[in-house]
Amino acid sequence: MSVTVVGSLNEDVLITVDRLPGRGETVIGSASATAAGGKGANQAAAAGRLGPGVHMVGRVGDDPAGARMQAALAECRVNVSRVHRTAGVPTGTATIPVESGSGENLIVVVPGANAALVPGDVDVPAVQRADVLLLQLEVPMETVTAAAGLAGGTVVLNPAPPAPLPAELLARVDVLVPNEHELAALAGVPDTERSPAEVAALARDLMKDLPAPHHSQARGGPLQGGRTAVVVTVGARGAVVVPADGGPALLQPPPPVTPVDTTGAGDCFCGALCQALSRGQALPEAVRYAATAAALSTTGAGARGALPANRDVQAALEKTPAAEPLT
Ligand code: RIB
Repeated sequence: MSVTVVGSLNEDVLITVDRLPGRGETVIGSASATAAGGKGANQAAAAGRLGPGVHMVGRVGDDPAGARMQAALAECRVNVSRVHRTAGVPTGTATIPVESGSGENLIVVVPGANAALVPGDVDVPAVQRADVLLLQLEVPMETVTAAAGLAGGTVVLNPAPPAPLPAELLARVDVLVPNEHELAALAGVPDTERSPAEVAALARDLMKDLPAPHHSQARGGPLQGGRTAVVVTVGARGAVVVPADGGPALLQPPPPVTPVDTTGAGDCFCGALCQALSRGQALPEAVRYAATAAALSTTGAGARGALPANRDVQAALEKTPAAEPLT
């Protein structure tokens, strides 16, 4: 049971606003705070809170923020021996206004040291031997592609922020986990509101064009099916699962919660999904676990303000509705 995350570490500046600003608009915030963030590190922290065997590969600056980001991950039981301090560049940062009523946000990232993560950094046993390798796109694409190529286990890609994906990378991905906006960007279609059934249809269309990943064919197990599975996170509606074997798509709703801040909910989903897959759970079961963990994570401020432990998720699973087939 091991999960390795290759990705970003950022220090987040969270700003509470009554209403998110529009383009060119100034709004007055009511509070600001710094917190540990970065999509990669958030996903590793979520997986680490839920179980053992989590490693992070990344870069921070040789500055106080870098030390804080390493310590925050270690507190979540993540092995940070492959998080390198990098001289001459600052630790990555993200500025995040969060709307107080809805918990919704906007994010602007300045990559800093994340941009210095090179393919040589991922040629390590933690990547080669992990049961599950989890990737996002806040570090250079060539490094993400190299990591996927070196992986001996299941490869999960959260294509965030969205960018064109090289065929060489796609050929190594067993499970693609975009949100609705990222799915639209990947499919090259307008980012309009879609029903879960429409999301599933779009994901299925996208999947048709993806090359069969070598891992699921070679390894068998819960992801066998010859194609890439797609799991689309759809906010408060939960997640749409399009399985690799061409079987029916499912909508997995979350348990009822009152969200305070949705920052990082998708990251918690990805970390929890990988932790469940590394335990050998089948994809629908792993998605149910991840949707439950992600819902719980929105009940506190910041990307890691309410990351649940495994016992919290197990207790909340009772309130998580059954998945619904999407025709
Ligand atoms: O997904 C949320 C994260 O995106 C934040 O923590 C921020 O650092 C950006 O990477």
